[in-house]
Amino acid sequence: MSSTEYSTDTLNDLTPDPVGARRVVVLISGSGSNLQALIDAQQHDRLGGEIVAVISNEPDAYGLKRAHEAGIEAVALPHREYDSRDAYDGALIKVIERHEPDLIVLAGFMRILTPRFVQRFLGRMLNIHPSLLPAYQGLNTHARALADGVAQHGCSVHFVTEELDGGPVVLQAELAVTADDSVETLKEKVHAREHLIFPIAVHWFLEGRLQYTAEGARMDGHLLPPHGMRLSHADAAEELDEEANDA
Ligand code: GRF
Repeated sequence: MSSTEYSTDTLNDLTPDPVGARRVVVLISGSGSNLQALIDAQQHDRLGGEIVAVISNEPDAYGLKRAHEAGIEAVALPHREYDSRDAYDGALIKVIERHEPDLIVLAGFMRILTPRFVQRFLGRMLNIHPSLLPAYQGLNTHARALADGVAQHGCSVHFVTEELDGGPVVLQAELAVTADDSVETLKEKVHAREHLIFPIAVHWFLEGRLQYTAEGARMDGHLLPPHGMRLSHADAAEELDEEANDA
């Protein structure tokens, strides 16, 4: 037996299969500030995986520039070039699968997904939404919350299912609404909270702590309550130094 054969056999016996970094594909449509939060987390070793591609249905999305600057493959896949939602989602599935992702992250991807698309990636697709779900599914969440005079607003990370903004919630961050708040201030404060919680939820998933099941989201094997885990206003404000900024 040659020494080469010997060392190869021995290594095969003793070395576990290498586990590559978990692969993440991020879908965006716009500014991509949440994408930036995920990139920053990755650069500080706090994401638990690697963003291997960013795909936008809007070719001018600023988020594509952010991806490019971070050395991440940035793909424009304009929906206007497809005849139907189904044709577009079929093309999107192909581009996504080429990157063999463990997780697909929707970070401001402003498209309604076809059931075929959702089924293909069910259980490994997370979205961020600017409200405390199940309140205010859909658009214009800040204006609707203000019009209702709610005391609490916030954001949610949830698994994506066929029901728009209706999948199991994983993590929320609360925001106490004040008399001075406007759509703009709410948007800003909610965005800051999104940037805080989205990388955390992605990290949990990539570490294998978070699972989608038919009954709901599970964390470390335990079924989460319908609103997922919650970061209180006080804790979020402290993390973000908001009180200090307001003073
Ligand atoms: C966020 O408010 C997110 O909740 C919603 O779309 C917005 C995306 O913002 N789904 P950005 O592009 O990440 O800045």
